[in-house]
Amino acid sequence: MPPTIRDALAATGLDSREAQLLLREALGVEAAYLIAHPEQALTSDQSRVFSEWTSRRAGGEPVAYVTGHREFYGLRLRVTPAVLIPRPETETLVEEALKRLPPGREARALDLGTGSGAVAVAVAKHRPRCQVVASELFVAALGVARENAAIHGLGNIRFVHGDWYESLERQRFDVIVANPPYVAAGDPHLGQGDLRFEPHEALVGGADGLDSIRRIVSGGPQHLVPGGWLLLEHGYDQAPACRELLAQAGFRETFSVRDLAGIERVSGGRAG
Ligand SMILES: C[S@@+](CC[C@H](N)C(=O)[O-])C[C@H]1O[C@@H](n2cnc3c(N)ncnc32)[C@H](O)[C@@H]1O
Repeated sequence: MPPTIRDALAATGLDSREAQLLLREALGVEAAYLIAHPEQALTSDQSRVFSEWTSRRAGGEPVAYVTGHREFYGLRLRVTPAVLIPRPETETLVEEALKRLPPGREARALDLGTGSGAVAVAVAKHRPRCQVVASELFVAALGVARENAAIHGLGNIRFVHGDWYESLERQRFDVIVANPPYVAAGDPHLGQGDLRFEPHEALVGGADGLDSIRRIVSGGPQHLVPGGWLLLEHGYDQAPACRELLAQAGFRETFSVRDLAGIERVSGGRAG
């Protein structure tokens, strides 16, 4: 006999917030529904799905991979193990891009290493007059990004397959954003928590974590209009190195901004 909502939640052994999130997703309801209907019995299908999901989570799999979704910048995004799970700190990168893409004005933006499409989708959704190009090296990730653009009905994103700027020929943009792999190879965090399940190629940026950032910065000037901005997310201690790389590549007005945790998380500069 399938359990009630109350009994199902009590039996998981998981953190109660995670158990509630999994049950909400399995039932397709809001949080308030679980509170309002504790005596409701699950159907046998719901019970089977919830029990499979709680076992996967108990085995360490990230909640977003288990449910196949994650909220980012107020948008529900499809997520699979082919893509990095979008992070709250990446919303800072979106904010900085939107500041430089005034609403109501036509512009071109590029999202390098789009993964799930999180940044490109958020920018395209909030700036409908902006044409967004989203590039990605891994075909499986591009498929997820395309799916997210379709879910949100966005016709102003074009997806390209390639190694950073490779497929862009001579195209130039008003704003380039990138949340590249920036964890140093050998960082012990790679063996912990959700990172164990995420694609290595989405996380690791060479020995010091800056390999991808170096390539993106050095290619930036050829793909920006005069006065265009390059904006990069980076690791908690990489802001000074990023500003230095930007300055060496001829960017001016270099800056860093802090995320909600108070960490310098996004750095950028303006093309001459
Ligand atoms: C840290 S993830 C960011 C994903 C997404 N933009 C986000 O913010 O959630 C970095 C992304 O860069 C992609 N990537 C890695 N190397 C690349 C390369 N050489 N060219 C293009 N994309 C690359 C990875 O596959 C991954 O999707």
